[in-house]
Amino acid sequence: MSIKNHLNQRLSAAMIAAGIPEDCQPILALSARPQFGDYQANGAMAAAKRLGVNPRALAQQIVDQVDLKGIAERIEIAGPGFINLHLSRTFIGEQLGSSSDPVACERTASKVVIDYSSPNLAKEMHVGHIRSTIIGDCLARVLEYRGDRVIRQNHMGDWGTQFGMLIAELELHLGAGERGDLALNDLEKFYQQAKRHFDEDPDFADRARAYVVRLQSGDEHCLALWQQFIATSVAHNLEIYRRLNVGLSAEHVQPESTYNSQLEALVSKLTECGLAVDDQGAKVIFLDDLADKKGQPSAMIIRKSDGGFLYATTDLAALEYRAQTLAADRILYFIDARQALHMKQVFSAGRKAGLVAADVDLEHHAFGTMMGRDGKPFKTRDGGTVKLASLIDEAEERAGRLIREKNPNLDDRQVADIARKLGIGAIKYADLSKTRTTDYIFDWEAMLSFEGNTAPYLQYAYTRICSIFRRADVDRDAHAAPVIIGTDAEKSLALKLLQFDETIEQVAAECYPHVLCTYLYDLASAYMSFYECCPILKSDVRPEDRASRLQLSALSATTLARGLDLLGIEVMQQM
Ligand code: ARG
Repeated sequence: MSIKNHLNQRLSAAMIAAGIPEDCQPILALSARPQFGDYQANGAMAAAKRLGVNPRALAQQIVDQVDLKGIAERIEIAGPGFINLHLSRTFIGEQLGSSSDPVACERTASKVVIDYSSPNLAKEMHVGHIRSTIIGDCLARVLEYRGDRVIRQNHMGDWGTQFGMLIAELELHLGAGERGDLALNDLEKFYQQAKRHFDEDPDFADRARAYVVRLQSGDEHCLALWQQFIATSVAHNLEIYRRLNVGLSAEHVQPESTYNSQLEALVSKLTECGLAVDDQGAKVIFLDDLADKKGQPSAMIIRKSDGGFLYATTDLAALEYRAQTLAADRILYFIDARQALHMKQVFSAGRKAGLVAADVDLEHHAFGTMMGRDGKPFKTRDGGTVKLASLIDEAEERAGRLIREKNPNLDDRQVADIARKLGIGAIKYADLSKTRTTDYIFDWEAMLSFEGNTAPYLQYAYTRICSIFRRADVDRDAHAAPVIIGTDAEKSLALKLLQFDETIEQVAAECYPHVLCTYLYDLASAYMSFYECCPILKSDVRPEDRASRLQLSALSATTLARGLDLLGIEVMQQM
């Protein structure tokens, strides 16, 4: 059990014993400063307000009742009624035990569907897709780690009017005797060409429009061309995931077109239950719960007057599939903040139509935009969209240069391996460490710095610990010794190690990866302070202290590597 849960239990019992209603919480938080203890319980104030009694007196009653023998060495009441808890050093040492794994997560077993990445296939993946891909992947890892059954759904956009234009273009190339795979070699260029033909050549545009209709009615020639285009585009995306160390593969691809055959029946169902109504030839769902300030209900079109279905229709079908066929307990969507209204509409209509049971959690986790150093959305020098493939190339190149400077003794293979981990880690961490909901500035120098809250700093901390074990000639995995908490630095580090579990629980519940980043940064910093003031390998260190400090070091390395892995970032033995 995490320390926090431990304390929560004891304090809750004390509150009940002090006659406080059961639904009042201890409200535990980490103390901001060491003089306020390690944890503080802030619940006495709220409870006192409710009972109409003096908060300090109530805090005293809780303290009189609480049994924290062997856990806290000092309990103080401060200010208007904060209860400050100073944990016992022996208790902390014992909690870490002598295992090489401080973490014993309370395993849960929910079925969680995660919709992330989900790029449109008409174009090559670009920076606009990176946040959903990275943040969603982190949550998939975190939830899987804490025991949830995670089902990844890559809701790729493989359907819609652009595909008429793209297959008309492909047909043009094939007609000229070109090989399809070569024509599609550069998807971005291919899209631009198709767009130009569409805008400039009326015959081409007519053909493209006719192909949309033929595609929708299942015409084999069009479907075969479409298939060829989609296969190339998907393969390209899978390669990006591989390079980014993102856990999405072919089996997770569940594109929009998979729902095509269900849309007709879905619209009938929504009409029969009275939710969707005819409006100027279209089928529309009016949502009162999302009405604007003037009381106008929010309108969601699910079938156009020409009979065509929309993005929203497919999302409702996907929701039904996830809730009913996949039987999810929780469905998470990692999509740009600009689609907030769309998601609200889908959730509201889905619930009203009974596509999703009331006890299934539907969560849209939105995020802001990635900006350039000029504060505008991140673009290439000439104002184009930055392809993910080039972004990854650049990250690896920059990291490679840095590594060669730092360590000229490495051979080319080592440099390539380290550069990949460092470069990808830097990009991911820069994104994950910022509060998800805000925009952030993409800055190569800052993200590749070895100082501050960056991936290189954490990866470097890990390699430092590896090198201590090399010098000590001790096998890190096999090392096991009791932890003795002597100095304050040892106490802070040990306590941080014990807080991994509660950090993971928080990230799993709220889906904010920066909470895990901040934790890892604090852990690495606590390790660096410990390393400075607690000698490990010096000859005058008592053997039991040396063993204990190696133990703390091993636990720190394990926890850093595990935390980084949950962020999708790899570590290395040296750099
Ligand atoms: N393909 C969409 C886009 O690029 C994102 C899809 C997100 N997932 C969903 N179920 N709507 O904007």
